[in-house]
Amino acid sequence: MIKVGIIGATGYTGEELINLLLKHPEVRICYLSAKIQFPQKISEIFKKFKARIEIVCEELNFEKVSSQCELVFTALPHTVSMEIVPRLLNAKLKVIDLSADYRLRNLKLYQRFYKKKHSDPYRIKEAVYGLPEIYRQDIKKASLVANPGCYPTAAILGILPCLVADYIELSDIIIDAKSGFTGAGRKLDLSYIFAEINENLRAYKINTHQHIPEIEERLSSFSSKKLNINFVPHLVPLNRGILETIYLKKKKNKLNLKTEDLIKLYKRFYSKEPFIRIYDKESLPQVKDVVGTNFCDIGLYSEKNSSLIIIIVAIDNLLKGASGQAVQNMNIMYGYPETTALI
Ligand SMILES: NC(=O)c1ccc[n+]([C@@H]2O[C@H](COP(=O)([O-])OP(=O)(O)OC[C@H]3O[C@@H](n4cnc5c(N)ncnc54)[C@H](OP(=O)(O)O)[C@@H]3O)[C@@H](O)[C@H]2O)c1
Repeated sequence: MIKVGIIGATGYTGEELINLLLKHPEVRICYLSAKIQFPQKISEIFKKFKARIEIVCEELNFEKVSSQCELVFTALPHTVSMEIVPRLLNAKLKVIDLSADYRLRNLKLYQRFYKKKHSDPYRIKEAVYGLPEIYRQDIKKASLVANPGCYPTAAILGILPCLVADYIELSDIIIDAKSGFTGAGRKLDLSYIFAEINENLRAYKINTHQHIPEIEERLSSFSSKKLNINFVPHLVPLNRGILETIYLKKKKNKLNLKTEDLIKLYKRFYSKEPFIRIYDKESLPQVKDVVGTNFCDIGLYSEKNSSLIIIIVAIDNLLKGASGQAVQNMNIMYGYPETTALI
């Protein structure tokens, strides 16, 4: 039985973590914390937890978390995690961090995109990027897992097989991404009120979104050439879910690739992956089939003699894009079946 704590328990990903971990037969949630005005039962903050968990959520107390837990999920905003994670690791706890603070190896890019100098730069090399489909062996031994971002999870899983197979030009990658509003966290902001979201659809941060360097850095490690990604995120009137439409340009010697060839490639590439579902020809993923699950659904399209490959990827931003993936990583770290509490 692992004794687990969650810091940032009152946010969307914290709420999902509690929900999943309560169903895990090998986990006991022992400690919950948030930036909270006064200690409060988590079942009073989220009524869905009534009669399921009676723990009080409180302001962070390092002594308590260190003595009561062996693994901590930090579900905190970026730039906050890096102030807290070092103290947890120094107390010999394992950490799965859901923020971006330990994902990027390039510190200059971190500072540029997250507007703050990294305060724990040496630890970044120790952190394992928590995408099980790529880094499973490293995750098994990790003390610090940098859980991937939601958009990068979908983008990397969607592009990687084509990249590894050397089918595509790396300078011509276009990602059209759509996300529900929980992706922005549980905060008060005029642009996130119902009347602004409902019946609306908008693009934002074209080619300036903070997830771009994360996608480029991870995919670049599978190629000797530099990648160039055009990334256009959109907010759609959904609570949760991400759908990415990815446009890739075939290499000149690969123009004869057809949808069937891609389906074969992807099915082989992900043949042992419990959470990747590759769609058959003419059937495409949609958000409602992944919401509430840890699955990543991938649909593929390519016509012979056309230069274009189109890939559709759907995930739940709060599950495969965050807390579900974090629990998947925990299962790997502790040797539990990877799907425990997730299927
Ligand atoms: N939402 C997603 O779809 C998603 C997907 C992938 C990754 N992530 C990442 O996961 C992390 C958490 O996301 P979220 O959506 O759950 O955010 P959120 O809903 O805004 O929740 C943030 C949590 O952190 C706590 N917190 C904020 N500032 C703090 C501080 N200075 N000290 C201690 N606790 C503090 C908040 O407590 P109070 O409520 O008391 O303020 C809350 O519990 C973020 O880094 C986010 O980028 C999110």
